[in-house]
Amino acid sequence: MELSAALEEIEKAENLEALQGVKVRYLGRNGLLTQAMKTLGQLPLEERRERGRVLNEWKGTIEKALEEREAALRARALEERLSRESVDVTLPGYAFPSGGLHLTSLILGELLRIFRRLGFSVVEGPEVESEYFNFDALNMPEWHPARDMQDTFWVEFRGPTPFTIQGPFGESVNHRGGAVLRTHTSGMQIRYMIAHTPPFRIVVPGRVFRYEETDASHEAMFHQLEGLVVGQGITMADLKGAIEELARGLFGKEGKARFQPTFFPFVEPGVQFAMWWPERGKWLELGGAGMVHPYLFRAVDDYREERGLPRVYEGMTGWAFGMGVERLAILRYGIPDIRYFYQNRLSFLRQFRG
Ligand code: PHE
Repeated sequence: MELSAALEEIEKAENLEALQGVKVRYLGRNGLLTQAMKTLGQLPLEERRERGRVLNEWKGTIEKALEEREAALRARALEERLSRESVDVTLPGYAFPSGGLHLTSLILGELLRIFRRLGFSVVEGPEVESEYFNFDALNMPEWHPARDMQDTFWVEFRGPTPFTIQGPFGESVNHRGGAVLRTHTSGMQIRYMIAHTPPFRIVVPGRVFRYEETDASHEAMFHQLEGLVVGQGITMADLKGAIEELARGLFGKEGKARFQPTFFPFVEPGVQFAMWWPERGKWLELGGAGMVHPYLFRAVDDYREERGLPRVYEGMTGWAFGMGVERLAILRYGIPDIRYFYQNRLSFLRQFRG
């Protein structure tokens, strides 16, 4: 074999595959150089030594040439790929669709803005609630027929993952009754009152759950906004004023509120309220309200006393309201089916992007 021939072949290899071929041809197990080395043994000692030295030198030279050529071929391949794949910044780009707020969030945002302006704090509570906060402390004992107005999802404490329902101070309240998915946000009236000293005004937005057959006007999950104001000398006139203010916030300065007597165990007197929608000349039935029932103040003070806290609700009065969030949207936009809200079809949701 000849060194110059080997080097020339290496130089001429135009790609990695061809180069590998050259490598095998010279250095492979039956390669030319390997063969030449194998015949060394047949030569006389002096010649063998000289020839061995030369062949070893050739081997080193060939290996180095192979390496250099391989590096050059790889660099060229990369160069070619980069120029082929270069980005044409003048091509039109992809459109990334931007998200938007859900209709429920938009309505809630609007409601909360109005109440923040009136000095209310926004607080939230747990969705898995103690029977005690959801019913008993709200003057709805177990036997009370009013419990039937709110068909309830009951939750087992036991099971693969036992859990604890925490009271307002992080204490377990499992001993106070069963666990439910809250049927309304009114339980937060109790939780908040226990942990705070009046006066205060809060609103509580949140999900609520009812064990109901679903149809166009019933969903098993929907949202409420609860309001609670407690202090000295708070009257029904303040309640009326706040609901009127809400009506004006939602429907402009012609907006107003209407109260009709009704019953809820946790208020006395109790009303259902509607708001006047001037543009359509319609009353919209939006929720319930009333003066906080004295039973609640006693239950709250008892709970505080049990924990060594002073009774602070004697001589206090207050009012509360609760309204349906989806309901407001349904009436205002004429949405024919409440189930549209959480099917998450974009064709529905996009119509209400803020
Ligand atoms: N919690 C009641 C309901 O879900 C609404 C309500 C709240 C009524 C506060 C009066 C006072 O129907």
